[in-house]
Amino acid sequence: MKIAIASDHAGFDTKTFIVGYLKGKGIEVADLGTNNDTSVDYPLYADKVAAHILAQKADYGILVCGTGIGISIRANRHKGIRAAILYSDDVALMARKHNDANVMVFGGRTMNINDICRRIDIFLTAQFDGGRHQTRIDLLDK
Ligand code: RB5
Repeated sequence: MKIAIASDHAGFDTKTFIVGYLKGKGIEVADLGTNNDTSVDYPLYADKVAAHILAQKADYGILVCGTGIGISIRANRHKGIRAAILYSDDVALMARKHNDANVMVFGGRTMNINDICRRIDIFLTAQFDGGRHQTRIDLLDK
């Protein structure tokens, strides 16, 4: 499995931790920046992860900004991207089961790292339910 990850400055520390966490699990990671805590514009980093997934260079994406809001708004403007802010464990599960989400989004200033890592595990082990949910997902990009 390969995961593309990016953040803005507000998510940089959290992203750095997540990269180590994923590598420790043997997951291949494409770290698309940012590379320090100098202020940057989060839409550009959402675009990098979206492009990577749409080019099938990664199975899933992870995006981190301060709240997760701005970077998820931008990611979801790309057809084929389904980015979900995983604000609870239940949401991490349902984002895969019902929404077939392909990008996990976290708030570097609003979530703690233990919750984030646990939600990544929940997301990566859950399966899409398909069926009526596939019909709805097809409608998202129409
Ligand atoms: C950056 O200060 C902050 O606005 C950004 O990381 C994010 O929280 C936007 O939604």
